[in-house]
Amino acid sequence: MSIVWDETLAIGDAAIDADHRRMMALIATLEAAAAGPVDCAAVGGTLAELVQLTTDHFAREEALQVKVGFPDREAHRTSHVMLLNRLEAVMTHYADGCDEVRAGIVRTLGDSLATWLVTHIANNDMEFKPYMAETPG
Ligand SMILES: [Fe+2]
Repeated sequence: MSIVWDETLAIGDAAIDADHRRMMALIATLEAAAAGPVDCAAVGGTLAELVQLTTDHFAREEALQVKVGFPDREAHRTSHVMLLNRLEAVMTHYADGCDEVRAGIVRTLGDSLATWLVTHIANNDMEFKPYMAETPG
């Protein structure tokens, strides 16, 4: 799928929305890698940035959920952990070496990540948006 930010995905926190935008841009970069010859260094760099950003982003988002008293944060956190585990497994696999097969795995990952992220924002992240409106500052 092509992954494009639009304002319906905004949850209303500047840092979280900026993270989501950047994650989408990185995933789009991974997807674009499917169009041409493999550039292992570029794909590796994109993956590394995505893993780091996703780790930092989930920590930011979970801290925000604590701050606003979002009640369903344990289930939400589980979904974050599952995605991070998947990303880290691919990262580890990719770090073993770069070839067409591994690059193919990364391309497939780009597509499934795009679906996961858009669905997660639209369904799960939106659940805590109303709590922010009730919490000043
Ligand atoms: Fe989330």
